[in-house]
Amino acid sequence: MEIGRSFRLLISYVVYLGGHSHGSQATLEDYKRVTDSHHEFLGSFLGSKEKAREEMFYSYTKHINGFAATLEEEEAKQISKHPEVISVFENTAKKLHTTRSWDLVAMERDGRVPPQSIWAQAKFGKDAIIANFDSGVWPESESFNDKGLGPVPSRWKGFCQNNTKEGVPCNRKLIGARYFFKGYESATGDKVVNGSARDTEGHGSHTLSTAAGRFVPGASIFGHANGTAKGGSPDARVAAYKVCWGGCYDADIISAFDAAIYDGVDVISLSLGGYPMLYLEDAVAIGSLHAVANGITVVCSAGNNGPYPASVTNVAPWIVTVGASTIDRDFLAFLTLGDKKQIKGESLASEVLPANKFYPLVSGADAKKANASASDASPVAYISAPETQLGVKPAPMMASFSSQGPNFVSPQILKPDITAPGVSILAAFTGATSATGLTLDNRYVPFNLMSGTSMSCPHVSGVAGLLKTLHPDWSPAAIRSAIMTTARSRDNTGSPMKAFDGLSKATPFDYGSGHIRPNRAMDPGLVFDLTLTDYLNFLCAIGYNSTDLAKFKKGYQCPTTPLKLEDLNYPSIAAPNVTRTLTVTRTMKNVGSLGTYKVRVEPPYGFTITVKPEILKFDKVGEEKVFEVTIKSQERSIGVGYLFGRLIWSDGNHYVRIPIVANAFA
Ligand SMILES: *[C@@H]1O[C@H](CO)[C@@H](O)[C@H](O)[C@H]1NC(C)=O
Ligand SMILES: *[C@@H]1O[C@H](CO)[C@@H](O)[C@H](O)[C@H]1NC(C)=O
Ligand SMILES: *[C@@H]1O[C@H](CO)[C@@H](O)[C@H](O)[C@H]1NC(C)=O
Ligand SMILES: *[C@@H]1O[C@H](CO)[C@@H](O)[C@H](O)[C@H]1NC(C)=O
Repeated sequence: MEIGRSFRLLISYVVYLGGHSHGSQATLEDYKRVTDSHHEFLGSFLGSKEKAREEMFYSYTKHINGFAATLEEEEAKQISKHPEVISVFENTAKKLHTTRSWDLVAMERDGRVPPQSIWAQAKFGKDAIIANFDSGVWPESESFNDKGLGPVPSRWKGFCQNNTKEGVPCNRKLIGARYFFKGYESATGDKVVNGSARDTEGHGSHTLSTAAGRFVPGASIFGHANGTAKGGSPDARVAAYKVCWGGCYDADIISAFDAAIYDGVDVISLSLGGYPMLYLEDAVAIGSLHAVANGITVVCSAGNNGPYPASVTNVAPWIVTVGASTIDRDFLAFLTLGDKKQIKGESLASEVLPANKFYPLVSGADAKKANASASDASPVAYISAPETQLGVKPAPMMASFSSQGPNFVSPQILKPDITAPGVSILAAFTGATSATGLTLDNRYVPFNLMSGTSMSCPHVSGVAGLLKTLHPDWSPAAIRSAIMTTARSRDNTGSPMKAFDGLSKATPFDYGSGHIRPNRAMDPGLVFDLTLTDYLNFLCAIGYNSTDLAKFKKGYQCPTTPLKLEDLNYPSIAAPNVTRTLTVTRTMKNVGSLGTYKVRVEPPYGFTITVKPEILKFDKVGEEKVFEVTIKSQERSIGVGYLFGRLIWSDGNHYVRIPIVANAFA
């Protein structure tokens, strides 16, 4: 019997090799050389370069070094042992995490933009380019019109694949539209026919327009939630990178990162994720590390696996991780039963029953049957027309689906970082499917309501675009710090934000630093900055070695004294294991006015917290100052689980808030 190719059991893999030594001046020849070296390398395992060419479906050549190929398990194992390889992991699918919201965060007031709003100050994000890795874009949506926008920025190197009427016709607003499907094809065996970045399911159009859609007056869903739809950075340019074809495959996500970094985007928004996993075996963590190293802010959804502890995903410390909370809007409708009993609910009905006429009830199970009918003896009821209610209290409160901390991979890094509106968000939709996505439904809508951390993530991406326009020199860590330290942990009644049940207090494991407050993020006073070296030191401390990390940054060496993970200069403090006492260090950089900051401590119950020094004087912009926080457990804090507190540095004008979560053991 001949052992042919068809007898090999092939699995789709990503082989990660770090970064490239060629700089941004690289030529087409350089890229060809890289691909050739990938073929050579894989060929040495498979027997020939021809075989390698057959099995390899991606060669990552620009910023990320690696390739994706179909391999036998044993071959993958052998390759992972090679000294040039950082990691080999299976090409698996991540999932999508399925505008009133701007009023709630005070960027507008009753549809008007006050001059002190970050929108006015940051020129509506006009200098930013925002990328979205999702299910593509519906280019005909009014949210992506280019009226009044100037020429495409000259630094832009991206393009529109299938820039045709059937594909995705681009304009001066939608300046990039690319699609990545070889990972999907390789893992599923399906074929993408007549592919393009066109969004056929609605998710990508919704998230991209939330991040940076234009002002579109008269948007609504069946007349509800009416008003002007708009994204966070309405005048920013946008680029859609379609990586989701049902599932969003690792090999495609890495390819999109490699492309977007090269193209010149400022912010990458990803409303998708998988399970928490080791950073350098996770496509999103790998891709975003390369992006952040190139000055690009990466914002990800926290996941919809709540309300359970340790369910948060996209937890790498170089990512901005976003939870979801409600807005102050309900779509109220009342069910009135025959005995006049009223039950409050929500409805978006497009047609309304004639008023005050009662109808027989059928059970849900029976209603499924085509011939369902109710007899006159059955109970009767009536559903009122839905009413859009604004100013609902309390809001925001956490959404039940929003994934929670602690961080399963590194509990020393508090995740999620922040929460933003993610319940019943109105934004652009696709024209390719009905409002509900059901084939029975024949209502096609330009705007639709959706809920999920998928919806909260692009709110933060939009704000990141505004901050990038205002402060082009800020690092991704500085942008994140500004968003986090200015967040609010109280709701619109002035009480601490509530958990999903509407009763208990939410904690930093729900919302990180709190709910975004973009107008404050413009001028945070101080920031906690981080460089690529800090992140590499972090990776050393969790077990990666100098040899592997030098493949990412040439000449890099792990520090002789490993970083204490709690000391990573993050704008929050997570101490998962306090045995009597723990001291953590932070460095703050002045990005505002000169001044003297004093610290105020709100210790977690049963802990004492001392900060040294308690006063920091900043004489220059850009100046950095170090402080130490000593966390001491007492008898009553031991063995009761995580407890929550915070520090606030203030010069009387700025308030720099740092949440603390601490867990004490004997
Ligand atoms: C897009 O372009 C590719 C490559 O030229 C082609 O195979 C595909 O059919 C095109 N898709 C559409 C929708 O035209
Ligand atoms: C692909 O596009 C071609 C040319 O536009 C068209 O003739 C063909 O029917 C399309 N195939 C599918 C499966 O949509
Ligand atoms: C929304 O619709 C209501 C009811 O038709 C109307 O009173 C209101 O003026 C509309 N609001 C906007 C912003 O169009
Ligand atoms: C209703 O339809 C189901 C199958 O669709 C059938 O089994 C049942 O007998 C029908 N009932 C009546 C009352 O016609």
